[in-house]
Amino acid sequence: MGGLKHVAFIMDGNGRWATAKGEPRLNGHKEGAKAMENLVPYAFSRGATVLSFYAFSTENWSRPKGEVNGILSLLMLLLKRNFKFLMENDIKLMVSGDLSPLSESRKRRITDAIEKTKDNTKTVNILFNYGGKSDILHAFKGLVEKGITNPTERDFEAELYTKELPPVDLLIRTGGEKRLSNFMLWQSAYTELYFTDVLWPDFTKSDLDEAICWFEGRSRRYGGIK
Ligand code: IPE
Ligand code: IPE
Ligand code: MG
Repeated sequence: MGGLKHVAFIMDGNGRWATAKGEPRLNGHKEGAKAMENLVPYAFSRGATVLSFYAFSTENWSRPKGEVNGILSLLMLLLKRNFKFLMENDIKLMVSGDLSPLSESRKRRITDAIEKTKDNTKTVNILFNYGGKSDILHAFKGLVEKGITNPTERDFEAELYTKELPPVDLLIRTGGEKRLSNFMLWQSAYTELYFTDVLWPDFTKSDLDEAICWFEGRSRRYGGIK
């Protein structure tokens, strides 16, 4: 489908989904993980080649320890549960963000999966301990380290966590809020923004169809005229 290469998701509303059912917030995150697994093959089948998922922001550390640890464990479980699927479906794992707060063994498991899937052609990009501002600062430091004092946009992009990825075409935020919450700031300069009240664990293939249909109706002018 024309023009839709990179779809990104701000997977919001897990906590409210659980609370509305009288369940602990972590159950919402577990259900959210299932929604994500369910959507990946379908989103690729609709023509996307890169899928980005905002899984944990640099600000999410401010949540209660139990919830933070629960989310981290869940992400590791997701990786374990899906590694074979990634390999068998030609999907490269990418993780954008700062992995340094993780234990050595968790870091190793992640870098190992990244290495083993690196020659695959489609991409699932997980934003973990990610912030748009921290990404820009990280890129700036990379340029300084390389001694590049008069960078082009390409030089700058090469230092971002998302380096080789194309810009985001369609960003979908579930959960009703109309904000970016420190999602990819540089990479979404010309992104089409889609907001829905559906809570992430309830977001289905047909909701994705609706978002893609909306996207296809947009006129992308990039500052020019049609
Ligand atoms: C999004 O769901 C998942 C993460 C931020 C990790 P939330 O946990 O923010 O759910 P709500 O917004 O509280 O409902
Ligand atoms: C955005 O959701 C971050 C992720 C989905 C990982 P938040 O729930 O953290 O965002 P705010 O606090 O509503 O802005
Ligand atoms: Mg939220």
